[in-house]
Amino acid sequence: MQNINTYILAIESSCDDTSCAILCNEKVLSNVTANQSIHEQYGGVVPELASRDHQKNIVPVVEAALKKAKVSLSQINAIAVTRGPGLMGSLLVGLNFAKSLSLSLNIPLIEVNHMQAHIMAHFIKEEEQKKPDFPFICLTVSGGHTQLVQVNSHFSYDVLGQTIDDAIGEAFDKAAKILGLPYPGGPLIDKYAKEGDCFKYKFPDSKLPGYDFSFSGIKTAFLYFIQKETSKNPDFVQQNLKDICASIQHHLVNQLLKKTVTLIQNTSINQLAIAGGVSANSELRKRVKDMEDELGIQTFIPRFEYCTDNAAMIGITAYFKYLNKEFAGLDITPFATFHS
Ligand code: KG4
Ligand code: ZN
Repeated sequence: MQNINTYILAIESSCDDTSCAILCNEKVLSNVTANQSIHEQYGGVVPELASRDHQKNIVPVVEAALKKAKVSLSQINAIAVTRGPGLMGSLLVGLNFAKSLSLSLNIPLIEVNHMQAHIMAHFIKEEEQKKPDFPFICLTVSGGHTQLVQVNSHFSYDVLGQTIDDAIGEAFDKAAKILGLPYPGGPLIDKYAKEGDCFKYKFPDSKLPGYDFSFSGIKTAFLYFIQKETSKNPDFVQQNLKDICASIQHHLVNQLLKKTVTLIQNTSINQLAIAGGVSANSELRKRVKDMEDELGIQTFIPRFEYCTDNAAMIGITAYFKYLNKEFAGLDITPFATFHS
């Protein structure tokens, strides 16, 4: 018989954040994340170092999540874990830990697709947080992916457009690296952009037709622009950092929203959600919110803690799978690239 309350312990370790969340049904009781600062000096995530740090972090993070939630292991009904996409070594740490817990506690294991989980974060039960109805459009924007998805139900998705090269988060991080900012540079570009003039510098638009995105051209254009300006004035970046950040951010958000607006106008779907790490970006959040009045649609913007990688989104996805009794075998292996 179904428990009245279902407690799920969820683990996320697909990239460089080790996260554990405890959920009671659709509510998050705790969501604890250990970030890895070691990658800052390398300008990007070093996979081998990431998996080593997950090994160190996973036990303290799980213990902290249980303590914060005031829940004991004996109360947990299922273990949820990210199976992919992500870095193989990082995923293996979380998956093997989750398998061991499931085996030792004799409770089901639930595997979760990381990209679906970013979208499902919208179904976490929160006071005063409205949830989208099906179908809705989700712009999923992270360090590894950029997708326009039609969400038909909790587990039925159609990917209508996606990046053919770099992800939007990568474009933010690479632009930041060119400016000499540490990894991950996306949040820093956002911070400096707040006080800059977003119309000062112009960059070429992607000419890709349809709903797909391309960000590799802008990376090169931005590099050449900075090289040209610093050859004339070596202090160019330092003197104009805020305006450069505001201009490149404005350009990148324009690329995302141009396709999103066209898609909304070409469908009868009038609900738009954003998800993933880049949905923490202030300009993107503001401009999506403004679309409510401009296009007469409803928009759904996640709380900051559910934008970047976190285990709460894994837990909520697993909760709906638990209701469907969709359990995984202990023989599952991680997958590195996207599949739905
Ligand atoms: O979803 P996420 O935590 O990890 C992946 O699944 O990839 O996304 C991380 C990405 C990084 O590229 C990071 O720079 C970007 O999200 N990001 C931001 C902001 N916060 C995080 N990009 C722009 N503005 C932000 N405020
Ligand atoms: Zn992510």
